[in-house]
Amino acid sequence: MQRREFLSWLLKSAGVALGLEGLAALPYFYHSRKEGPLRYIMAAEEGKIPRRGVRQVDFSVAGMTRKIFIVREEKELFVLSPTCSHLGCLVSWNYLKQEFDCPCHGGRYDISGRVIGGPPPKPLTRLPYEIKNGSLYVGVRA
Ligand code: FES
Repeated sequence: MQRREFLSWLLKSAGVALGLEGLAALPYFYHSRKEGPLRYIMAAEEGKIPRRGVRQVDFSVAGMTRKIFIVREEKELFVLSPTCSHLGCLVSWNYLKQEFDCPCHGGRYDISGRVIGGPPPKPLTRLPYEIKNGSLYVGVRA
């Protein structure tokens, strides 16, 4: 296990042990902030790209699971990071309310990622992506 993987594992374990979901999100926050060249990783095959609405997709980068939201609103397709702009917890899609909810401090975002409630200072980040041969590749720093 490399040092980075060990640190990530340690933070996740501490977060789960203490019941602090926000702490469990720290490895993701750490990895999403680091510098490095942008690489496009296959995240969703053609059948997993929603025709409308939101779909959560998990994929693997360097042995770590990453989560994104692929959103089709009207005719626009975009990819949202699940990292809350307040303190970095991971948001989830609330299908009934049609909004993203942050479990840590009640942050709320609309389907476009705009803040509609709570303390987040900025919208959810839109991630770069490409469609190649029908599959969606998301840009990640590695
Ligand atoms: S981390 Fe999301 S509202 Fe605080």
